[in-house]
Amino acid sequence: MLVEKNPDVPANAFGDDIATVLVDEETLHRRIREMAAAVSDRHRGADDDLILVCVLKGAAYFLTDFSRALSIPAQLEFMVVSSYGDAAASSGTVKIIKDLSADIAGRDVVVVEDIVDTGLTLSWLIDNLKTRGPKSVEVVTLLRKPSGEKIHVDCADVGFDVPDEFIVGYGIDYAERYRTLPWVGALDPAVYS
Ligand code: PRP
Repeated sequence: MLVEKNPDVPANAFGDDIATVLVDEETLHRRIREMAAAVSDRHRGADDDLILVCVLKGAAYFLTDFSRALSIPAQLEFMVVSSYGDAAASSGTVKIIKDLSADIAGRDVVVVEDIVDTGLTLSWLIDNLKTRGPKSVEVVTLLRKPSGEKIHVDCADVGFDVPDEFIVGYGIDYAERYRTLPWVGALDPAVYS
């Protein structure tokens, strides 16, 4: 599902910094419910609860809405990995700031991501998780930016493909700002150039 620009930006805490709304709240939540239904159907009847790995901070909002829409049992795990710092482009250098607290050996794992851009973060993360002996690892991502791809990452579900804009909102930041917006928008280039 490719999203198109909608220049009607609702009044928000960041004034004119947002150039366009890309995914409004209603569309976002409808798609998240569809994604949760798809994951529930794939894993229904499994012996163990699903383990959801949330990659903080960006995926926090997606994780909470997505997990509450599941119709099968799931457990939450959190990781913090960082590739961007405060920069606008991925450095490709990934480091673990906070690791999982559970052993995922023999378990079905779903990585819940906010956005796949270059794919460098997720590609590294999947390789890292696979070394821990899970039964399966799959990725669901709310957003994907095809124009940014450097490494292809197979995603079981993708919410929306987004255009080559600086994406913010619904958990996604620029220099730690804009995460709290309830929808997904594109930052005005004047803010970061
Ligand atoms: C962002 C985002 C993804 C990653 C995607 O995380 O949440 O994890 O970058 O980019 P890539 O596909 O080019 O690797 P970031 O490191 O900015 O941390 P944050 O979630 O705390 O904002």
